Formats: sequence, C-alpha cells, structure tokens
Amino acid sequence: MESDKLHQEKRDAIQREHDLRKDDYKLQIKSLDDQMKIKEFGERLKEEIGILSSHLMLLRRVKEGESEDGTLNTPKTCEPSDTTPHPEYSSPATVEWKKEKWFGGAYNPHIDKIMEMVGLENVKEHVLRIKSKVDISKRQGTSLKDERFSIAFLGNPGTGKTTVAKLYAEILSMMGVIPSSKMTEVTGALLAHGGITQAKIYIDELIQNGGGVLFIDEAYQLTRGNSAGTNGSPVLDFLLGEMEKYIGQIVVIVAGYRREMEKFFEHNPGLNSRFPYSLTLQDYTDEELERILRGLVQTKYKKQMKLEGGIAGLYVRILIRRVGRGRGGNGFGNARAVQNAFARITERQAARITSERMKKGKPDDFWFSKEDLIGPDPSKAVIDSAAWKELQELIGLEKVKETVRGLIDRIETNYLRELRELAPVEVSLNRVFLGSPGTGKTSVAKLYGQILKDLGVLSNGEGSSSMTLIVLLFLENGIC
Ligand SMILES: Nc1ncnc2c1ncn2[C@@H]1O[C@H](COP(=O)(O)OP(=O)(O)OP(=O)(O)O)[C@@H](O)[C@H]1O
Ligand SMILES: [Mg+2]
Repeated sequence: MESDKLHQEKRDAIQREHDLRKDDYKLQIKSLDDQMKIKEFGERLKEEIGILSSHLMLLRRVKEGESEDGTLNTPKTCEPSDTTPHPEYSSPATVEWKKEKWFGGAYNPHIDKIMEMVGLENVKEHVLRIKSKVDISKRQGTSLKDERFSIAFLGNPGTGKTTVAKLYAEILSMMGVIPSSKMTEVTGALLAHGGITQAKIYIDELIQNGGGVLFIDEAYQLTRGNSAGTNGSPVLDFLLGEMEKYIGQIVVIVAGYRREMEKFFEHNPGLNSRFPYSLTLQDYTDEELERILRGLVQTKYKKQMKLEGGIAGLYVRILIRRVGRGRGGNGFGNARAVQNAFARITERQAARITSERMKKGKPDDFWFSKEDLIGPDPSKAVIDSAAWKELQELIGLEKVKETVRGLIDRIETNYLRELRELAPVEVSLNRVFLGSPGTGKTSVAKLYGQILKDLGVLSNGEGSSSMTLIVLLFLENGIC
C-alpha cells in the first residue's frame, strides 16, 4: 500500500513536471511564432521599401536618360557588370493580392502564377474581382450555381492567352466555382473536325466528373467556314445549348486572336451573353518585354548569369528594341518573340564558348557577351564572312558588289546608331537580280542571302536592320 502511494506520488510529480514543461514549450513556441511573424512583417516591409525605391530609381533613370528634346542621351560606357540597378515593378493587383495573402490568409498558387506574369493588369484585376465575388458569396452562404463564369481571352500571338486560360481554369476550380478540377483542352479546329458527336463526349466526360472547364483554344477556328474539313458552326450551336443546360457545372473558356474572335462572336447573337467576361491581352511594351527576358534569364540560370552591360544594360535594351520593332505587324510574337531571341542568345553563346574552348581558353559559362546578346558587329562579321569573300572573288559583277557593299555600310550605320540608342534608319534588304541566262544570278542571290545571315540581320525579329524579310527575285533580262 505504502509503495503504491509512493508510486502514485512519483507519477504525480512526473506529471506535474511534464505539464510544466508542456506549458513552457507552449510559451516558447508562441514566442517563436511571434518572432517569425515579426520577421515576416519585417521582410514584407523590406520588400515594399524595395519596390518603392526601385520606382524612385526608375523615375530618376527616366529623368536622367532624357535630354531636353526628349531623345535619349548617348549612353555612358557599359562596364561588364551584373549590378546595374534595375527597377522592380509592381502592379496594383499584385500588391492587393499580397495584402490578401499576408493579412487575410488567402492562398491560391494559381493566382500566384498569374501575379508573377509580366503586365496583364486587366487579367490580374479580373481574377481578384472574381475571387472577391466568390469569397463574399461563401460568407453570405449564397449559391453561385446560376452564375456564368465563362470567359474569352483575346489577343495577338504570344500575349499569354493559353497560359492565362489554363491558370484561370485552375483558379475557378480551386475556388470551388466548378465542382471538379477536370479541364478538357481542345482547339476550335479539333472540335470542328470531331463534330457534335465528339463535342458531346467532351461534355459528358466533364459532367461525369461532376463538372469542369472546357477550354477551346483558337476558338475562332470553329466559325471559320469549313475548318478542318468540317463546319464548326453546328458544334458551336450545340455547345451554346449545353452551356445553358449545365450552368454552374461547366465553364467554357475560349481564347483566340482578337480580330478572328470578333467574327466568332458575330456568329450567334447568343454568344456574348454566354460569355459575360471578355479580356483583351494587349501587346507587351518594350519595358514588359525586357522584364520577360529578365525573368527567362534569371529563372534558367538561377540568377547566376552575368551579362555584359548588366541585366538592364545597353545591350539588353538594344535587343528588346529590335524585338519590339515588330509590334503592330502580323508576325509579332510578343513573349514568344522574346523567348526566341533568348534562344538565339544562348546559341551564339554556345558557339562562342565552344570556339574559345577549342583554343584552350577558359571562358565563363555564366557570361553573356555583347556579341551573344546583340549579334556580331557587322563590320567585323563581314571580314569573317566566307560568302562575302566568295562574292569578292567573282570576276566582274562590279555593280552587284558595289550594291552589297553599300548595303553593308547601311547595316553598319544602323548598328552604330543602335549603340547610341538612336532609331535605325529604314533599310530594305530586298533585292532584284537581273541578268541574262548564265550570268550567275542564282549564285549571287545565294551569296547575298548568306552574307546577310553572317551579319546577323536575318535572324527573325531581332536583326539590327529595320527589315528582316528578304525577297530575292531572279529575273532574266527581257522578262520585266
Ligand atoms: N506576361 C508574361 N510573362 C511571362 N511569360 C509570358 C507572359 N505572357 C506569355 N508568356 C510566355 O510566352 C509563351 C507564349 O504564351 P502563350 O502560348 O500563352 O501565348 P498565346 O497568346 O496563347 O499565343 P498564341 O496566340 O500564339 O497561341 C509562354 O511560354 C508563356 O509562358
Ligand atoms: Mg495560344
């Protein structure tokens, strides 16, 4: 009995000790928690201060970079450096979303991804508006079953329609607007080709999953007459009926080029009301294209890559201006054009590094040189051009050689103008080669094309000339 009592006392003492420690741990955890919160708050403040000082820097750069007549000053020498200050931009919607996350505990990784995209403020604002609407409805305990969330994303190539549309579908699903996360992605051409039978299968699949998103990319293909050999109009009419039948269960997202999509909406007067939201993704400005490029470089090389002139330096600006010069034209690829330009930078770098290593050098893999970024100096490139040498060695053809020389001079002039941040003058690269049979028109034309390639002016969208398309006409004497 006595020993039981002793045991019990011991157990109680241990329990008391245990409880005391538990309270102590709880206090320690709370204190750590508070410290974390304070640290996090400090980080946020730092970030906000960073954004504000970057904005200030941008304003200073704009102020200092412009002379009285509004033209840009001649740039100062660009030292190899990766520390060139560049402004961190922010969008009101992104700031708003950060606040919702920090202070309201909001969580949605798909919204994060949209907010990380460059520009697209109207899309970001719309996403937040829809989120508020859903949040309020949840708090009010009201149903969103009769609400239409179908949306159209319109815009030129490479503006991010497909990327945004997919994220939007994920966002709707995560917010519970649609009962499942099932998304069927299809193109207008494919839908038209599959006809009503296939469209019905898509809808049935979604319904069997409890609902979902039907994403029709390049939706204008549905109303483009005989798309893919079948008329898409009946399919579209069928879908319109299904959208109404399964409201609250199926959301349809359409994406496509703005002009073509106008025809799509003209197809049926009921279409506009089925798609209460329509957002146009604008062409990116040069500043946005620059940020897209920066994002590509930083992400791919985990911030290790250094650029001659800095990541916001002269050569990046030249490159971006070359890309941006295509804006307004049919073939302008926006973010995709930047991706292509970036691909060519990496190709030029790879070629340079390979050649330097062959010469037993030890080039830095994490360095983009001026030539990697904007291509070779035409005056130097022409010396290395085998095609140029070959043309010189051809007997006669003085007029042709003179013309090509004149053209190279103009390309060089433009290159120098670019280095001084002046707009290049228009240079048409198109040439007509006239001559009697057997006078070497084809050979000359081929050499001419190769010379332009060697000078880096035929690189699709980022050549230093203002024209990147060449048309070579081979005309026999007497035909024209
Ligand atoms: N704002 C942006 N920020 C960063 N990357 C972007 C942005 N917009 C587009 N991109 C990238 O550019 C590429 C092309 O985007 P996407 O395919 O979504 O464009 P699209 O408008 O659908 O083009 P298309 O009309 O030719 O189909 C993608 O890799 C995408 O991630
Ligand atoms: Mg697309």
